[in-house]
Amino acid sequence: MLLITGVAYGGSVVNSKHNMIGGPGPYIPDADTDQVCVFCHTPHQTADATAQDPLWNKQVTQTATFGVYASPTLDADMSNAEIGGKGAGSQSVSALCMGCHDGTVAVNSLYRTPSDGGVGVAKKLTGYANLGTSLSDDHPINFTYDATLATKDGGLKPPVSDKRVDNVEPYLPLFEGTLQCASCHNVHDNDTYKPFLRSSINGSALCLRCHEK
Ligand code: HEC
Ligand code: HEC
Ligand code: HEC
Ligand code: HEC
Repeated sequence: MLLITGVAYGGSVVNSKHNMIGGPGPYIPDADTDQVCVFCHTPHQTADATAQDPLWNKQVTQTATFGVYASPTLDADMSNAEIGGKGAGSQSVSALCMGCHDGTVAVNSLYRTPSDGGVGVAKKLTGYANLGTSLSDDHPINFTYDATLATKDGGLKPPVSDKRVDNVEPYLPLFEGTLQCASCHNVHDNDTYKPFLRSSINGSALCLRCHEK
């Protein structure tokens, strides 16, 4: 056996469960389009997507209230952390995930239909990957994680910038200083660290990138 070490091979969305038409799965096998990205992005948005970035093409969630995590020891300011009740154009990165992962809008409900074929019969996400419409029992998201919070908490690393936690690759990104689903998850790569993670969970390495525990 040839053992290859020391090289990080980035996986691709093409061979992941986020490939709705191929890969392992696929979730929408009856789609005629041959495009992978189109279930989330389009190069030319329609007006009803109201310029939701990044070039978003997936119908957003209509859930008004997801709730937010709360606990006696939490130090973060959660007053703007609610991700529900916002339309296309002002959705947080986490709300984009919940456009499929809250199980309320079909995975293949798109703003712009691809030119090369249909997207199949409407199908919502069910089963273990459906997180439902409550986020009060999930790791907190959509709040500012900065040096001030790290000082207040005493057990958190101060982020190096409002774009990322540290300078270790692959980075754990922050979105305008906020922690989102995509800080822990890489939506485009399920293979490097399953399930779609930014860092290994062996020895809880992912958690220790932020928490000094
Ligand atoms: C299942 C949904 C999904 C699919 C499929 C998908 N993306 Fe994304 N993409 C996202 C989300 C969510 C974000 C924002 C979160 C982030 O930046 O990590 C994003 C961000 C991006 C960005 C901007 C941020 C960055 O990393 O540079 C680019 C560029 C991008 N995607 C390209 C692509 C391309 C090209 C494909 C197809 C090969 C693709 N995506 C397929 C969901 C998806
Ligand atoms: C266009 C719809 C769509 C969007 C948007 C989307 N997902 Fe998914 N996701 C899916 C589907 C479909 C599956 C596969 C479900 C299954 O196999 O039962 C999945 C699976 C997953 C899994 C489990 C993978 C595994 O191997 O067990 C994770 C984790 C995940 N998604 C995270 C995210 C995160 C985080 C975001 C946002 C950054 C996101 N997804 C955005 C549709 C989506
Ligand atoms: C603090 C890091 C972190 C954040 C933030 C986070 N996740 Fe996860 N997520 C994980 C880890 C770690 C796992 C794997 C858990 C395991 O295997 O025991 C996971 C698992 C999942 C799964 C697989 C099903 C399951 O219940 O295990 C889905 C789907 C998922 N996450 C989606 C999301 C979405 C959507 C968001 C934002 C609302 C999010 N995650 C926010 C770390 C995170
Ligand atoms: C990207 C950085 C980041 C990652 C990765 C991360 N966390 Fe967190 N986590 C935070 C921040 C920031 C808070 C808010 C802490 C506070 O306000 O007291 C938090 C909050 C928590 C809380 C709630 C604390 C409380 O006082 O109620 C727990 C528990 C927790 N994280 C566990 C984990 C675990 C377990 C993992 C790995 C699966 C993980 N975190 C990964 C940044 C992260």
